[in-house]
Amino acid sequence: MQDYHDFLEKILISEEDLQARIKVMGEEISRDYEGEDLMLICILRGGVMFLADLMRAITIPHTIDFMAVSSYGAGARMSGGNVRISLDLTTSIEGRNVLLVEDIIDSGNTIASVLALLDTRGPKSLKVCTLLDKAERRETEIPIHYRGFVIPNEFVFGYGLDLDEYYRNLPFVGVVQPGKYVQED
Ligand code: IMP
Ligand code: MG
Repeated sequence: MQDYHDFLEKILISEEDLQARIKVMGEEISRDYEGEDLMLICILRGGVMFLADLMRAITIPHTIDFMAVSSYGAGARMSGGNVRISLDLTTSIEGRNVLLVEDIIDSGNTIASVLALLDTRGPKSLKVCTLLDKAERRETEIPIHYRGFVIPNEFVFGYGLDLDEYYRNLPFVGVVQPGKYVQED
C-alpha cells in the first residue's frame, strides 16, 4: 500500500477542527434530546470514527446500533441509485428517537434508501446527522438536521472514509491529489 503522503493533496479538515466541531454537535444533540430516549444508528463502515467521537460528546443517555449498506463497490466512485442492506440492526427502533450518523452525504441516494426503510419500522422520530456534506453532488434531497462541514466536490479520505477500504484510521480528512493514488489490483 502507498504511504498517504504520496497522494495527499492537502488536509481539508484537521484533527483539531474535527474534534472541536464534533464537541459542539454533541452539545447541540444533548440539548435537543434532553429528557428523551435516544438511539444513534451508525452506518458502517465510514461512520464509525465519527460515532465514537460524537457519542463521547453527547452527555445524555443513549444507545447505539449499526447497519451496513453497500452502494459503492471497491474502486467505484459513483453511487448507484439503489443500496443493499448488508447488515441490519439487531435492536428494534419502534417508538424510539432515531438519529442516523453518517460520515458523508454525497448524492444522497444511500441515506434516502436507509431513511425510507427505517421509516417503515415505526420510529418515534427519525433524523440525520452527517459529518460531511458534499452538497453540490446532491441528487436526492435529504433533510439534514446536524451537519459538521460542507465540503467541495473532491474525493476525500481519512477519519473513517476510505480509499479502497484503507486509510480510514487517519485522524484528519484529506483530499486525494488526482492521478497520484494508485489502485492495487
Ligand atoms: P451517496 O449515496 O452518494 O450519498 O454516498 C454516500 C457514501 O459514499 C458515503 O457513505 C461514503 O461511503 C461514500 N463516499 C462519498 N464520497 C466519498 C469521498 O469523497 N470519499 C470516500 N467515500 C465517499
Ligand atoms: Mg459510508
